[in-house]
Amino acid sequence: MRNNLNEKTKASVIKHFVAKKIPAWVKQLPGPFQEYSKEEIGELYLAKDVRSTLLSWTEKYMVDNKSNIAIPSIRYNGFKMCLDYQVLIGIPEETVRFARKHPSKDERVLPVPQKNVVLTPDIKAWRQQRKSIIDAFLPFHSLAPLIPKIQNTVTALVHRWQKLKVVDIKAEMHHYALLMFIETLLGVSDPFGVPSGQTTPKDSAIVRDHFNLEFKDLNQPKLLQKRIAFGVQFITSLFQKAKETNIQGHLMKRVLEIKDFEIRYAEMFALLVAGHDTTAYTMQFLFFELARHPTIQQKVRDESIRVLDRINASGRSIKYTDLPKFEYLTKCITETLRLWNVAMYVFGRVTTSDDYVSNPKGEKVLIPSGTPFNFWFYGHHHSKSLWEDPFVFNPDREFKKQELNKTPCTQRLHPFSLPGRDCLGKNFAMMEMRLLIPQTIRNFHLDLAEPTLKEASVKVGSGEVYAKWCRESGGTVQPHSIWINITPVRIKSHI
Ligand code: HEM
Repeated sequence: MRNNLNEKTKASVIKHFVAKKIPAWVKQLPGPFQEYSKEEIGELYLAKDVRSTLLSWTEKYMVDNKSNIAIPSIRYNGFKMCLDYQVLIGIPEETVRFARKHPSKDERVLPVPQKNVVLTPDIKAWRQQRKSIIDAFLPFHSLAPLIPKIQNTVTALVHRWQKLKVVDIKAEMHHYALLMFIETLLGVSDPFGVPSGQTTPKDSAIVRDHFNLEFKDLNQPKLLQKRIAFGVQFITSLFQKAKETNIQGHLMKRVLEIKDFEIRYAEMFALLVAGHDTTAYTMQFLFFELARHPTIQQKVRDESIRVLDRINASGRSIKYTDLPKFEYLTKCITETLRLWNVAMYVFGRVTTSDDYVSNPKGEKVLIPSGTPFNFWFYGHHHSKSLWEDPFVFNPDREFKKQELNKTPCTQRLHPFSLPGRDCLGKNFAMMEMRLLIPQTIRNFHLDLAEPTLKEASVKVGSGEVYAKWCRESGGTVQPHSIWINITPVRIKSHI
């Protein structure tokens, strides 16, 4: 996240932070507070891209990317930004325990109070909300029947690409991920006013600009309100279409059942963001890696042709149970989720009871109830003691069985977060990726186009992966535009 604060606001944020008492636990954990004054820390944290600062601190103060440190955090008091203290939990076992025991999000992570399932701090409300929509994500009952619709969208993409030579994969994947989410889980056709077979990324550009994890206007109330107003208008149009046509996807049905008007809109807002942004980023990075690794790309293509041809030969369409057959592709997806993990950290949480974390001496440090904390997922995914050559894209590395199961989840790899408040859409995301990638890869050769080709020569090393390749916006890891040449594969096309 890039701080676009003016000097006066920054000075006022730092002044308030300086006046804030340092909690006892901050003094017992490594981190910048042991080295710098609060003024200096405020300057460092607010001066530039927060992610770069965070990467440099974790590199300096954490042991092999997986110990606990104390750092500052940005929070909001209404629209007023402030700095607070937080524990960044890096020890894998303590991460797992805190993930289960303290699911409450910090109500101060955004300027506007959040009532949706992703962000609500109220545990009782969160449990109810999660319970009310979870059946929309059941693999065989709810997701499997969505496959034909997704296949149609992918077929339209392949036809469109046949007329193109080069694509901005960022715009393409965002468009199709949003389209697939709205057309299937919500059940609304032609959401951008153009029949889905003919739509292009231009049609969704304005909508995508409003539903994303970039958090552009957090410090500008007027722009933020404009953004929210557009969002409300778009959501209203989706609700109207769903009611008028009486065609409602499983998730849409559940959201329409929410009686409280404000929560209904809040829920849809959050789902429109969560339901496409992260999947789009992951597919962009995967296309990027395939384009710059031709041998891996060919292996994915060979597998795609083999699996799809067998399904075609048996005279049927692809089914949910076919998805694990894309074994090598699944390794590539898992490796992308590791190396380019979208959520290097998650939305900040607070402890709901007293608890303990360990310091490097192995001593237990008391963390009182109400303490802000976050996890360091990036660290686990890039720790040198947990992975061989962690900064290299290597789908052939030795994964554990649970990392290649339906959705990866181990102590060292948890791109969809950890139970109890993990991703609800993980099976949907894995399904979309395993439907879209094989069809495109079997039909097109990919190689990097300029200016991406020049940028891709950047040596991939610690910090550089994220600092140079990713946009300085939002808490999530997302690429710049990635330009890719697409050349039709000279085989009989089965789409
Ligand atoms: C590759 C794709 C995806 C990745 C990497 C991903 C990752 C995550 C992560 C890390 C969280 C935890 C966030 C936090 O605690 O702050 C999360 C939560 C969530 N995700 Fe995803 N996600 C993906 C796709 C999706 C999709 C497609 C949907 C919906 C269709 C979805 C819906 C949700 C929801 C509703 C939550 C909140 C769960 C809760 O708090 O109970 N996600 N996701």
